[in-house]
Amino acid sequence: MSITLPVTSMQGAYEIVIASGSLSRLGHHLAGLRGCGHVLVVADDAIADTHAAVVAASLRDAGWAVSETTLQAQESLKTMSTVQSIWDDALAAGLNRDSAIIAVGGGLTGDVAGFAAATYMRGIDLIQVPTTLLAMVDASIGGKTGVNMPLPSGDQLGKNLAGAFWAPTLVWVDPNTLQTLPLRELQSGLAECVKHGVIADRELLKVMMVHAEALQDGNLEAILDLLDRSIKVKRGIVQADERETGERMLLNLGHTFGHAIEPIEELDLTHGEAVSIGMCAAAWCAVHLGINSQGGAEELVQLLASLGLPTRLPKSIDIDGLWDAMRFDKKNVESGVRLVLPTCESAVVRDDVSEQVVREAWTHVMPSPA
Ligand SMILES: NC(=O)c1ccc[n+]([C@@H]2O[C@H](COP(=O)([O-])OP(=O)(O)OC[C@H]3O[C@@H](n4cnc5c(N)ncnc54)[C@H](O)[C@@H]3O)[C@@H](O)[C@H]2O)c1
Repeated sequence: MSITLPVTSMQGAYEIVIASGSLSRLGHHLAGLRGCGHVLVVADDAIADTHAAVVAASLRDAGWAVSETTLQAQESLKTMSTVQSIWDDALAAGLNRDSAIIAVGGGLTGDVAGFAAATYMRGIDLIQVPTTLLAMVDASIGGKTGVNMPLPSGDQLGKNLAGAFWAPTLVWVDPNTLQTLPLRELQSGLAECVKHGVIADRELLKVMMVHAEALQDGNLEAILDLLDRSIKVKRGIVQADERETGERMLLNLGHTFGHAIEPIEELDLTHGEAVSIGMCAAAWCAVHLGINSQGGAEELVQLLASLGLPTRLPKSIDIDGLWDAMRFDKKNVESGVRLVLPTCESAVVRDDVSEQVVREAWTHVMPSPA
């Protein structure tokens, strides 16, 4: 089965193709789309010899000149120096303005390789081949690319503080690549699907609750349905507000809290796990402000837990440091911290939540007393 979802963008329309076992067809499809040329495959080194090798072989078969490089998918390495090394590899391989970069990996690979594509020779074609659930439903769609930056306050990194909007030429989703994804990473992607459900598709939340086990077992039918529904939510939002001046901000649900804890190494949280805890903190904020019910917040927490996601921090963390990190979030406005909070029907953006309420929300997601 193959699903093609067209996406409109200020930089030109592109397609998201979802098809099982399709990696080996990418080369021919892409040749038909924009003609062959020189391509740099930037692969997550964990899948360089498997999924990325299939992509590279398919490109060569279709007549592309293929160069390859790898990166390590670690937040501490999601920095300008990794972008620099991709630029160096692109230049050494002889890529020009007609060449393309193909990102094969999770959201981290897509963000870093995407930023390299957006900036190399003022921008070359980018093809996203997401191999994690999170990247399939979220990171590969909508053109956000970027890297982390050291915060002025110390050695902690601020999430995605430098980057660019750079729409891909094609997003190629092969759900079979999820078969090698560790369960914890699959669950991490489920957090972003819950986020999409909260914002724009409450039916999706019900489906996820019913199929919680099948999804975690990697059942292809359940995954395909999830991909279709969740990608449609993301597509709808980025088409309506590509540059995040309005509705797209809702996609940051759980992220202002989540970005404060994701870079803390001792917590050892994946992006989706940090977003899961962040959504719980945001839900408690919403209850406190009277824009969600206690029952609504509890249902969200229960769904996340049934999908194997954390709803509290694994270790107690000093709230002063968390507040400090939130103050450097790039979504903030002059008047203070900008939060997205889940309501009974959807989510809202609020710029008026006091420091005291935010601190209280953090106490709700601290580890439960033994
Ligand atoms: N650009 C956006 O709009 C956007 C949206 C959401 C998240 N993000 C970014 O995406 C990143 C998180 O993405 P992620 O969760 O995909 O993490 P990731 O890219 O770090 O990948 C997670 C882990 O899975 C491994 N992996 C990837 N594919 C695999 C496969 N098929 N089989 C086995 N292992 C595999 C990686 O090596 C890594 O260890 C964060 O940096 C986040 O900021 C970006």
